[in-house]
Amino acid sequence: MAHEENKAFLRRVPLFSGLSEQQLEQLAAGSARRSFPKGRTIVSEGEPSQSMYILLAGRAKVQRSDSEGKEVILAVLGSGEFFGEMSLIDDSPRSASVITLEPCEFMAVSKDAFKSMLMQSPDVAMNVMRGLVRRLREADQKIETLALLDVYGRVARVLLDFSETVGGERVVKNKLPRQEIAKMIGASREMVSRVMKIGRAHV
Ligand code: CMP
Repeated sequence: MAHEENKAFLRRVPLFSGLSEQQLEQLAAGSARRSFPKGRTIVSEGEPSQSMYILLAGRAKVQRSDSEGKEVILAVLGSGEFFGEMSLIDDSPRSASVITLEPCEFMAVSKDAFKSMLMQSPDVAMNVMRGLVRRLREADQKIETLALLDVYGRVARVLLDFSETVGGERVVKNKLPRQEIAKMIGASREMVSRVMKIGRAHV
């Protein structure tokens, strides 16, 4: 039963589009659904890896920290996105930690099942490459933001990135705490608060 459900979920995941019934069957046998509460670490930076994950519901942050515990948020992932594939591809330790920002549901795919699909299906390999290229483009954009914009510009860029158009206006719908914005742009929470207050004074 769980196996059939997993197969039905995997069939809807864009990453695995193009797989035959038999390949989906094989993938489902190496997959399991998991639910986690808010604030749970799903993968830990520096640890060895056994699985990659597809986020079915909820949001999670990708974060790195230094030896003093200072943290930087590299990305916020949403439903339909995948993570944990990098260390499976290059057999290195986890490049970052992934932590839930709200209750989340995942599909965990074992290392063997994922690697076997990569080798068997050019469609899956292409989808993974597309995901990696998109991430590189976003990282390039982030480097530009950090190198060329002041803190005002960086806060504005984050708010724009997280906004969507509602009734002709850009609106940030999901909760975005100042502490999290600060960790995305390498500034202090106090500085982000100051910038946002000044921003409001100018509206
Ligand atoms: P892995 O290194 O296995 O574990 C941590 C995961 O975080 C990594 O695989 C990627 O899936 C994800 N990740 C690392 N860097 C980024 C980034 N800059 N943007 C989005 N996701 C990332």
